[in-house]
Amino acid sequence: MLTRRQMLQASAVLALPSLATAQEKPAGFTLPKLPYAYDALEPHIDAETMTIHHTKHHQAYVTNLNGLLEKNAPEMLKKPIEEVLANLKNIPEMVRGGVRNNGGGHWNHTFFWNVMAKAGGTPKGDLLKAIDDSFGSLDKFKVAFNTAAVGRFGSGWAWLVPGKDKPLTVTSTPNQDNPQMAGGAAPILGVDVWEHAYYLKYRNLRAKYLEAFFNVVNWDAVAENFAKSKKS
Ligand SMILES: [Fe+2]
Repeated sequence: MLTRRQMLQASAVLALPSLATAQEKPAGFTLPKLPYAYDALEPHIDAETMTIHHTKHHQAYVTNLNGLLEKNAPEMLKKPIEEVLANLKNIPEMVRGGVRNNGGGHWNHTFFWNVMAKAGGTPKGDLLKAIDDSFGSLDKFKVAFNTAAVGRFGSGWAWLVPGKDKPLTVTSTPNQDNPQMAGGAAPILGVDVWEHAYYLKYRNLRAKYLEAFFNVVNWDAVAENFAKSKKS
């Protein structure tokens, strides 16, 4: 004879959707919605730059990625983007570079939109302690991060990633690569230093854009990414 509690527990288990259905991803990649309005990051990042960056540049990476995979590796269209990027060796060599650039572009931009917010706030708690332990202070971290970002020749990204010797470290990657694609840990913060990310407002002054970027860093999202990195 089941007790009322056992019956409730049994019905709760039965009510769960099957994992196969829950994990099924529709074929193909789509442009995610921005988590805020195009003008939300004004005056630091202007609405026109955000609109073009999201609807033209990010959309182009998604469209190109889908096109390359449809013709050359259609089974990858149902996989999460992380799995596509972790298995580039399985993509036909002729289009591997294109999948790398456009797939990396899709992952990087999706990540980037989520580490920015209108009222960025400041790092606190475990994250602030990790920044202090790794760089000496928040200001010294900003200098290290911006040095990596300004020093990236041509187009690319700067990242804050979990470190080996210290809790956090700064790195940068060219083009649309990211630290995981080089076999490293997932970043907890990143900034796009392609000219398309800042040229309309800041022209060639990448350092000015980086200074402004720190006003719109979503530190709660960065803290969440940091907490996740400690669990994996
Ligand atoms: Fe970009």
